[in-house]
Amino acid sequence: MNKNRPRVLVIHGPNLNLLGRRETDIYGLLSLEEIDRRLGEKAGELGLDIDIVQTNHEGVMVETIQKAMQDYAGIIINPAAFTHYSVAVRDALAAVPVPAIEVHLSNIYSRDEFRRHSVVSPVVKGQISGLGPLGYLLALEAIAGLVGGENQ
Ligand code: DQA
Repeated sequence: MNKNRPRVLVIHGPNLNLLGRRETDIYGLLSLEEIDRRLGEKAGELGLDIDIVQTNHEGVMVETIQKAMQDYAGIIINPAAFTHYSVAVRDALAAVPVPAIEVHLSNIYSRDEFRRHSVVSPVVKGQISGLGPLGYLLALEAIAGLVGGENQ
């Protein structure tokens, strides 16, 4: 970690630890470890430090977002199923003055009716949905642009 480099926090929500094995027709064959490896590589190129957390627990996600206030310049979050109903996750994002980008691997607007609504979207800077793992990398570029990584 370099003290002068902006730090970005990536938060993966429930069941994303199963990527590569879970509904691969929807979420693809890449594992979360591989997505995280690519994020680490891209962060290096962009001059950002990165920390990555995966949790299956709503309360842990809320606490992780709250703590981001102290140390992070930006958040990338795939709240997974919490996207569609967690007012607690939404309120945490609204409470923390750190720009956040919401990412979904699948296009949530082309799926089940209950997935077409995100309670989180109104309180984030932007959303990327449907571009698979590339969406995370594009979100990182967007954050770098917002927070001014070394190589911007
Ligand atoms: C998801 C979409 C959500 O509807 C779902 O509950 C997930 C993953 C996505 O990345 O496409 O777990 O957030």
